[in-house]
Amino acid sequence: GKGNYNHFMQKEIFEQPAVIGDTLHAFINPATQTIKLPDMPFSFADATRLTIVACGTSFYAGLVAKHWIERYAGLGVDVDVASEFRYRCPPLPKGGVALFISQSGETLDTLAALRYAKSKGQKIVSIVNVPESTIARESDVVLLTYAGPEIGVASTKAFTTQLTVLACLAVTIGRENGTLAKDEEAAIVNALTEVPKHAAEVLHHDEALKKLALDIADARDVLYLGRGLGYPIAMEGALKLKEISYIHAEGYAAGEMKHGPIALIDQSVPIIVIAPSDELFEKTASNMQEAAARGGRVIFISDGPGLSKLGDMASATVELPKVADFVAPILYTIPVQMLAYHVAVHKGTDVDQPRNLAKSVTVE
Ligand code: M6R
Repeated sequence: GKGNYNHFMQKEIFEQPAVIGDTLHAFINPATQTIKLPDMPFSFADATRLTIVACGTSFYAGLVAKHWIERYAGLGVDVDVASEFRYRCPPLPKGGVALFISQSGETLDTLAALRYAKSKGQKIVSIVNVPESTIARESDVVLLTYAGPEIGVASTKAFTTQLTVLACLAVTIGRENGTLAKDEEAAIVNALTEVPKHAAEVLHHDEALKKLALDIADARDVLYLGRGLGYPIAMEGALKLKEISYIHAEGYAAGEMKHGPIALIDQSVPIIVIAPSDELFEKTASNMQEAAARGGRVIFISDGPGLSKLGDMASATVELPKVADFVAPILYTIPVQMLAYHVAVHKGTDVDQPRNLAKSVTVE
């Protein structure tokens, strides 16, 4: 049941500190502070390239993973949505590994993409939340998310636990490839271990986000901007808002604004900026300035250092804990989930069963 919560989605958002913790426990050895994935029948050090395929929110998890794996593990990654990948008949490298991400493990396009990759000789790894699912059964290696059943159609805890597993995978590949030094691994493991605590802190912004939701509920369009690891989170935030509140929203790479979408901006368009104070902060900040100068109402999601630099330029701010760059996407997901949730509740839409959508898409 929903317990004390009004909706499954709300319950699942609030479960995130616990289920991220459960997922970390499965893969981190607390004694050595190292990550240990299940044994695999192959080594990532032999892989020439990694192909990641998924749909919807799981696809955005793949985009975050691309950034992590290329940056920290030195392995080139292609990411695609399953419905495009499967019909393009892409050539796949000898000795390649293909990774499929699916909460349900039953998404038809993702399964078809898996079968295609298998027919092309790829080693098949999947990240699923349902151990007995078809995708799990057809994989060489299964990495589980320990999110527990996700009932709300809008995926929340499945996404942040997928990111948790993908972070562990990126570190493992980095170790095997020799691109991640022992102390770097220890620093990332340490940051990951603190994510449940920080996630719980982020949940304290619920009331503030509920108020902010009032400003968004009447908008016709909403833009979400981010760079680097923030870009997939911008797209995830936009997808959450679209699917449960029916407000048109787009997630954009902040640096792409001046290549077109900035023409949309006036006082009526709320702009949600996802900008932890990482190495790209100054760049994102200047994109935010451009948007604010055109009358856009900016909701700025950042940390203490970021807000003290730029907080006064925004119409509203959300302050998250200052964390290592690597783990920021996991935490910055939570406020955009809560914002979408409160907008939908305010509008009175069916949060857990939005129109036209099914929890698991088993048709083409
Ligand atoms: O079960 P899957 O992870 O394979 O599902 C993929 C998408 O259908 C799913 O993430 C969908 O986009 C969600 N409704 C997003 O909230």
